[in-house]
Amino acid sequence: GLPSRITICEVGPRDGLQNEAAVLPVAVKAEFVERLADAGHTLVETTSFVHPKWVPQLADAEQLLETFKPTDGVRYPVLVPNQRGLERALALGVRDIAVFASATESFARRNLNRSVDESLAMFAPVVARARDEGLGVRAYVSMAFGDPWEGEVPIAQVVDVARRLTALGVTELSLGDTIGVGTPGRVVAVLDALTGADIPIESLAVHFHDTYGQALANTLAALRRGVTIVDASAGGLGGCPYARSATGNLATEDLLWQLRGLGIETGVDLNKLVETSVWMAGKLGRPSPSRTVTALAGE
Ligand code: HMG
Ligand code: MG
Repeated sequence: GLPSRITICEVGPRDGLQNEAAVLPVAVKAEFVERLADAGHTLVETTSFVHPKWVPQLADAEQLLETFKPTDGVRYPVLVPNQRGLERALALGVRDIAVFASATESFARRNLNRSVDESLAMFAPVVARARDEGLGVRAYVSMAFGDPWEGEVPIAQVVDVARRLTALGVTELSLGDTIGVGTPGRVVAVLDALTGADIPIESLAVHFHDTYGQALANTLAALRRGVTIVDASAGGLGGCPYARSATGNLATEDLLWQLRGLGIETGVDLNKLVETSVWMAGKLGRPSPSRTVTALAGE
């Protein structure tokens, strides 16, 4: 069966904007975050407290958090790689963070300048301190399906990193198809291996990039397996500057269109989101790659 309601984690302001050549003014980013909450999102991944030289697009993290007007009941998680990042986030009153691990050595090295072991050691004190402070802590497992340097990623590697992150005390795991190569059979196999290793399905989110047009099919496969947290990006913005051939995330509008047909509730208003993505496309100077935005924009 399918769930009657799911939670969308809207990653447009973070995953979407981290990969844009243009750096948008902080006021535009703040309006974006506010519009996403106004459309009914309850989980908006807002920015990253990473090294500003590594991701210059999000170097204004502090300013953004001081600029946008938060909505009651909405959570605004941010990415945090290390203790320095956590200190910066806590200073701004952040209540939810995400650390980001990799199932492969190649991407851990490129994205975090660390081996997998070293990056987990970097996260350990971050997760411990964040949990002490009562924060929600999500952990990404990037390259959970395929990797541009290593090819298909052995499922045992994904399970191993997931178990080690769980042991650190994270509250949620998001499985990243960073370069969008996964297909539904693989998604089911990875989910089954994780639940078989005693990782509860309620703690799992899916994070599909749509490089090969598989994100919606992969999402449906995950929903059928009981996943109820789905990451998506308004207008299909997104990608990772440290992963070759990563394109945009699953577009939230495409997801909403599918969920509407399936009778699955999210609380997010499709029309308001389309208006937001059309507005954002204007700011970025190029049309949204989302099919649903394209179809509905003219109406
Ligand atoms: P490093 O160069 O190894 O850093 O980078 P370090 O620990 O050696 O520190 C060097 C200097 O940087 C120090 O300054 C630190 O204070 C400073 P110094 O003492 O030399 O003056 N520093 C910082 N400054 C501000 N904020 C910080 C910070 N940390 C250190 N947080 C590091 C290691 C992790 C920092 C770097 O590799 C980094 O920032 N990486 C982030 C890469 C990134 O953001 N990638 C995109 C997000 S992941 C993604 O998109 C995938 C996802 O969507 C899921 C999926 O699709 O699969 C999540
Ligand atoms: Mg991503």
